[in-house]
Amino acid sequence: MIEKIKLIAIEAAIEAGKILKEGYGKNIKIGSKSGVNDLVTEYDIKSEKRIIEILSSEFPGCNFLCEESGKSAKTDSPIRWIIDPLDGTVNFAHKVPIFSISIAAEVDGEIVAGVVYQPMLEELFVAVRGQGAFLNGERTFVSDCEDINRSYLVTGFPYNVGENPGNCIEVFVDIVQLGIPVRRLGSAALDLAYVAGGRFDGFWEIDLNPWDVAAGILLVEEAGGKVTNFDRSPYKLGDRTILATNGLIHIKASELITTCSLERRRR
Ligand code: IPD
Ligand code: CA
Ligand code: CA
Repeated sequence: MIEKIKLIAIEAAIEAGKILKEGYGKNIKIGSKSGVNDLVTEYDIKSEKRIIEILSSEFPGCNFLCEESGKSAKTDSPIRWIIDPLDGTVNFAHKVPIFSISIAAEVDGEIVAGVVYQPMLEELFVAVRGQGAFLNGERTFVSDCEDINRSYLVTGFPYNVGENPGNCIEVFVDIVQLGIPVRRLGSAALDLAYVAGGRFDGFWEIDLNPWDVAAGILLVEEAGGKVTNFDRSPYKLGDRTILATNGLIHIKASELITTCSLERRRR
């Protein structure tokens, strides 16, 4: 069953990618959700509809947790799909070609397969539990950087960043002040996939949703990396903080992030 899950997830991601490519760069309908900068476009919706259509035709009666349509009514199926049909909507809406589709499959509560697809570059990241992580069919691994001071990191901010939840601004400033190069690509699913691909050595963010990270977590773990909360406690979907690294810089990264925010909080 896992092989079929993987193949159908790949098919759904590629089909959704075609839809996003069709809409990319056009003048499209854009609305907002939790705030003026939390955008949703007609293509988020089109992509999600197509993914659900493909997955449900192959796995009738399965469960869904999707960013745009939410939770489906609970069924008896052991399968739950966790989907972000367009991760990086703000980039997409502004015609910046950095966005992805994220599809994860959970069976009996465990993520067994994850796909993150970057349609503009046609980069397909696929992980299957126990079988490794792959980029366009080639096995991929996390980086071997052991020194946090030489690491290349990526992060992101929640839409209410102006309220500075979890002191996320100070944590970012403190790490940048150490001279460590930090990027903010705008797609958490891609950030995780790039850690799995050995491009970044680590990623952290707060207040992400299960659809942003479910596929990416499996990618990082299957590529040999580590995913926890900031304080290194085990990460469960829905937790408020996430730290994903190549494993080698994990302790140091966790110390940096937690010490930075704690020090600021004490002042
Ligand atoms: C967002 C992206 C972004 C992250 C935000 C997410 P969306 O998802 O993953 O990188 O910083 O926290 O909400 O809204 O583009 O699907
Ligand atoms: Ca997202
Ligand atoms: Ca989204």
